[in-house]
Amino acid sequence: MDKLIIHGNVPLRGEVRISGAKNAALPILAASLLTPAPVIIANIPHLHDVTTIISLLGQMGTRVTLDECSNLEVDASSIHSYHAPYELVRTMRASVLVLGPLLSRFGEADVSLPGGCAIGTRPVDQHLKGMIAMGAKIEVEKGYIKARAKKRLQGATIVMDIVTVTGTENIMMAAVLAKGRTIIHNAALEPEIEDLANFLNALGAKISGMGTSTLIIDGVDELSGGNYQVLPDRIETGTYLTAATITRGKIKLKNTRPTIVDSILIKLHEAGAHIETGVDWISLDMKDNRPRAVNLSTAPYPAFPTDMQAQMMALNTVAEGTGIITETIFENRFMHVQELQRMGAQISLKGNTAICKGIDHLIGAPTMATDLRASASLVLAGLAAHGETSVDRIYHIDRGYACIEEKLSQLGARIHRVSN
Ligand code: UD1
Repeated sequence: MDKLIIHGNVPLRGEVRISGAKNAALPILAASLLTPAPVIIANIPHLHDVTTIISLLGQMGTRVTLDECSNLEVDASSIHSYHAPYELVRTMRASVLVLGPLLSRFGEADVSLPGGCAIGTRPVDQHLKGMIAMGAKIEVEKGYIKARAKKRLQGATIVMDIVTVTGTENIMMAAVLAKGRTIIHNAALEPEIEDLANFLNALGAKISGMGTSTLIIDGVDELSGGNYQVLPDRIETGTYLTAATITRGKIKLKNTRPTIVDSILIKLHEAGAHIETGVDWISLDMKDNRPRAVNLSTAPYPAFPTDMQAQMMALNTVAEGTGIITETIFENRFMHVQELQRMGAQISLKGNTAICKGIDHLIGAPTMATDLRASASLVLAGLAAHGETSVDRIYHIDRGYACIEEKLSQLGARIHRVSN
């Protein structure tokens, strides 16, 4: 198992390019199952989760090829299996995103239940409820969701009980080829949902209401092929900006989109960062100053993302003052706290709230990643700490951060990967 070794206390300086968004690339790749015509997708990030979904699509009969410009060409004209096995869904919950497209185009899908994961129970009841409202018969048998639609799915009005990102996406994909109009009320507003809708519309779908909590999908008989470019990753963007803030550095991010990271930029500004933005770039300068602690509460977009909570916690550990962070989305998303405490962080937990008193500096230590964003927080802590930090179980970070040690090295970090 690989680990990262970091020698910290080096301000990050320089420029880095942000990759395509993992959480947009995964649903877009799943959505390519909806059309028999080839689609070409650009700005796909090099990530383990992307490899997982490509394997899953490949097992179903999709041909996926990489062209000379690193674009993926996906051809789902000869699908022969409607099955997403436990072995793949277990490693990546987003595999459940094939359910809507398979059911809608083929009337059949057997998808393993994702089950709980380290950060929480994460049920998929809302996904299933929406598809049942469209006429699907769904049974859960031997750990598998068995979904069938004898005839074409029917448009329906669906009110989501809770705001769910992949739930909204799954239902939207199912509705694209359904007969008639589907209205999704209380839809999630995450930019990746809009990106998926734009991709589907580029193939001939009729989706409107993007960026609002009511999505309207008028079903079409079939989709065509097309070209699409995935939007930049807002969590990778936020993570690098926080890395520069915690190390008192100065960086510029290229190929990003400032308009989708407002809540993060506001918090980093509160922490003392000087931020400038252009259409597709963000620069951040700490002017060598120590960051100030920030308070925040996670909530669905456009509020502060849960996927940036752990990184901001790392920032608070060395900030001036005391920061209070409340996690409202997942019930067990504080596993990085224990690891940060091993580096000297002064954090106390009260239910879903973490109170962190900033200290002058962390001391490097061996640490263990427990999930994707927790591992990012440990890397950030290691970059700021005095001495050597190791982050074990780095496979978590490879799921969501493309070339992380190369990008951080480019910014002057002393970081390298070793295999145990
Ligand atoms: C997506 C993101 C993930 C992010 C999360 C919250 C992808 C691939 N992943 O995950 O990075 O952390 O949004 O922004 O886009 N819930 C239910 N029933 C359901 C569905 C969800 O109770 O049917 C609950 C979940 O347990 C959780 C909350 O709703 O407490 C939000 O989860 P959801 O938005 O669905 O997260 P994901 O789509 O799995």
